[in-house]
Amino acid sequence: MKYVIGVDLGTSAVKILLVNQNGEVCIEISKSYPLIIDKSGYSEQNPEEWVEKTTAGLAELVEQFEGDVNDIEGMSFSGQMHGLVLLDNQHQVLRNAILWNDTRTTKQCQEIYETVGKQKLLEITKNPALEGFTLPKILWVKEQEPEIFERASLFLLPKDYLRYRMTGNVHMEYSDAAGTLLLNVAKHEWSTEILEAFDLSPNLCPPLVESQAFVGSITAKVAKETGLSEGIKVFAGGADNACGAIGSGILSEGKTLCSIGTSGVVLSYEERNDLDFEGKVHYFNHSEENAYYTMGVTLAAGYSLSWFKDMFAKDEAFDRFLDGIENVPAGSNGLLFTPYIVGERTPHADSTIRGSFVGVDAAHERQQFVRAVLEGITFSLNESIEIFRSSGKKIDSIVSIGGGAKSDVWLQMQADIFNAKIEKLSSEQGPGMGAAMLAAYGCGWYPSLKKCAEEFIQTSKTYLPIEENVKAYRKLFAIYQQVYRQTKELNQKLSEFRK
Ligand code: XUL
Repeated sequence: MKYVIGVDLGTSAVKILLVNQNGEVCIEISKSYPLIIDKSGYSEQNPEEWVEKTTAGLAELVEQFEGDVNDIEGMSFSGQMHGLVLLDNQHQVLRNAILWNDTRTTKQCQEIYETVGKQKLLEITKNPALEGFTLPKILWVKEQEPEIFERASLFLLPKDYLRYRMTGNVHMEYSDAAGTLLLNVAKHEWSTEILEAFDLSPNLCPPLVESQAFVGSITAKVAKETGLSEGIKVFAGGADNACGAIGSGILSEGKTLCSIGTSGVVLSYEERNDLDFEGKVHYFNHSEENAYYTMGVTLAAGYSLSWFKDMFAKDEAFDRFLDGIENVPAGSNGLLFTPYIVGERTPHADSTIRGSFVGVDAAHERQQFVRAVLEGITFSLNESIEIFRSSGKKIDSIVSIGGGAKSDVWLQMQADIFNAKIEKLSSEQGPGMGAAMLAAYGCGWYPSLKKCAEEFIQTSKTYLPIEENVKAYRKLFAIYQQVYRQTKELNQKLSEFRK
């Protein structure tokens, strides 16, 4: 039996999967690392920590593996998108990585619009200037830390830096490069026009490759530290959302994914690169060759729930925390939550907005609050689905993965709020599985990613919308949509009191 490894460098942990030729996960290792939050809106990580935790995780995997290590043929990577890792000319890290959920760059986003023009930016990069993306972070360092920027000779994204440390070779692949605002998405090349507009050297940008490209083997040092064979083939990999799509079989037109992790995304496969969503949703290169996907993002999806639990029920087991919410009717007895606790992306790209509970009543109990949080997160994701639908897309079936697929109540809620059939997968590993599938495809196990998905991915359960709940949620969603507008100004005024 042959094996591949999928490494998913997430925001809170690195998850490593050993997958066999039948698509079964044989070993799963997870190692967590902290976020460094020095100020409100800041979010950083130390890249060395990614390398240490991944190396330790791989060593643990090899220790648990009972077969011949030479049968582990390939390895690939998935990772949190957009994070800026700046390197000097010796490839030493110059500062902590600034992550996708860091919102310090509002001013730089404005500068990007002023310099390039919104229409031109959309034409080239297919995306608006958002605080989380990489170019605004590069401009922030250039302005705020000129002594560091002067020494910068290359930038990488998180999983590309990790892969560089594993192989010694520098690359970036299209699906992650698409989230930098420096890539011409349709042409698959770095945009000279944007680089020149900000006086950035093209040398800052690494060479681009396809996700399934073979990019080398691990170094002798990594082989020694992990116990893996030096002959293992390493493939480039993809952005976590692109890999989540592959790992859920979102590989043909009409397929849609709802993935709830720290952030939540609704993602839809696109064959074409010339559609116009006016920047309302993200439009990125897929990790399948010559394919694309569109995506709406809720910044604090799973994070809203874990925040609420940490605040009010820290020591309780998760199952117990959700206990009883199935008995609370749709609408949580008139309690409504907006999950804007770290700002929002889709449909309101706004780093100042914050969350609300609306309609708090003395009769509400904790279960109503918990259900309202789940409903608010799901309403937010529904905003993206509504954008897709209003552009003419037919969305009647959605694969749900991540935290949102771990609870029957939440899966049914998604069916009712999205008014679509929800599919739960039998073994759901998200981006790590997508990375493993890229390695399996790269190793030549299958002629295409689609064929690999047919073998590896099965639906285990479906949830159909319940008409009565659909009706209630339709009314509640209309109320939910008003909260943003009505709290925007209040939050602007409150922002001066935030530390
Ligand atoms: C996507 C995004 C997040 C991160 C999370 O644009 O910022 O989904 O990729 O890992």
